[in-house]
Amino acid sequence: MNNDELVKTAQAMMASGKGLLAMDESNPTCNRRFAALNIPQTPEMRRAYRDLIVMTPGLGDCISGAILFDETIRQKTNNGTEFAEALQQAHIIPGIKVDLGARELAAFPGEKITEGLDGLATRVREYVKMGARFAKWRAVITIGNGIPTAGCIDANAHMLARYAAICQDGGLVPIVEPEVLMDGSHDLARCAAVTAEVLHAVFDQLYLQRVILEATILKPNMVLAGLSCPDQPGVDQVADATVTCLLRNVPAAVGGIAFLSGGQPAQSASSRLNAMNVRWASKMPWPLTFSFSRAIQKPALDIWAGKEANVPAAQQALLHRARCNSQARQGRYKPELEKPVL
Ligand code: G3H
Repeated sequence: MNNDELVKTAQAMMASGKGLLAMDESNPTCNRRFAALNIPQTPEMRRAYRDLIVMTPGLGDCISGAILFDETIRQKTNNGTEFAEALQQAHIIPGIKVDLGARELAAFPGEKITEGLDGLATRVREYVKMGARFAKWRAVITIGNGIPTAGCIDANAHMLARYAAICQDGGLVPIVEPEVLMDGSHDLARCAAVTAEVLHAVFDQLYLQRVILEATILKPNMVLAGLSCPDQPGVDQVADATVTCLLRNVPAAVGGIAFLSGGQPAQSASSRLNAMNVRWASKMPWPLTFSFSRAIQKPALDIWAGKEANVPAAQQALLHRARCNSQARQGRYKPELEKPVL
């Protein structure tokens, strides 16, 4: 695939009024969420849940692309269609998580490194054949006493850049996801400082590895106070801190920015994204949208609870959150949109 096609795919992922749906939970993560709801943790239940999501009528009106897990891209919907093909039929671009998860970073207690570069070029070729057009790699940065270290930030930034270059070489648009976690008691300013340092390191490495920024999507955290910080900022403060940090550290050439939700309550994630698009629309050089997993899926998963009879109500809840975030991406979200879905 040539660079123009990669750029076109990145632009289609950032289509007006739309965002991305992360449905690429690894088996252990998906099983943990199932276990909390007493849903059997089997490949068939994971497939049935992904079928519910992909077959939601109208999803493609709000969702431009969906990120699949390796198991899912090899499975089929209830009607026997490959998931990547079913997404295309719904006018949703199929994507794939290609990292193999975060592990302890040797010699850096409390810090992690994401693995998966070995054999990546071969896997990328296989995923392209299966219909994937973009990829995702998530690095995890923890804020705590004396961390993150420069060693951890640099190692993860280098891996993200190598991954991005390999994907572009093989025909996939890379989503580069350096996630600064919400866990901890740090305040908003500390999250802003760490996020700035991480983004700076990531874009240095993307430059060194010759990654085409126009064919790259950044998936950052919003700048938030830690979950146990007593001083929680308001919606506008989060919006201003986040966009200020991005404007200072993300080149204008980047194809787009699509936030992770990181465990924020679904409505908070929508309000904060909306505030960014309302308050900063005229200053932003890139489209600013969502690539949420929990903030779109959680209400639907809770309703489904593994029961076939609950599928229509769960799909309605999923579509509702997708629509709210589509509105937020356009600066048109209002709390009044949050009507009970049942
Ligand atoms: O890698 C994490 C997902 O792509 C985003 O998930 O929105 O639940 O943080 P989240």
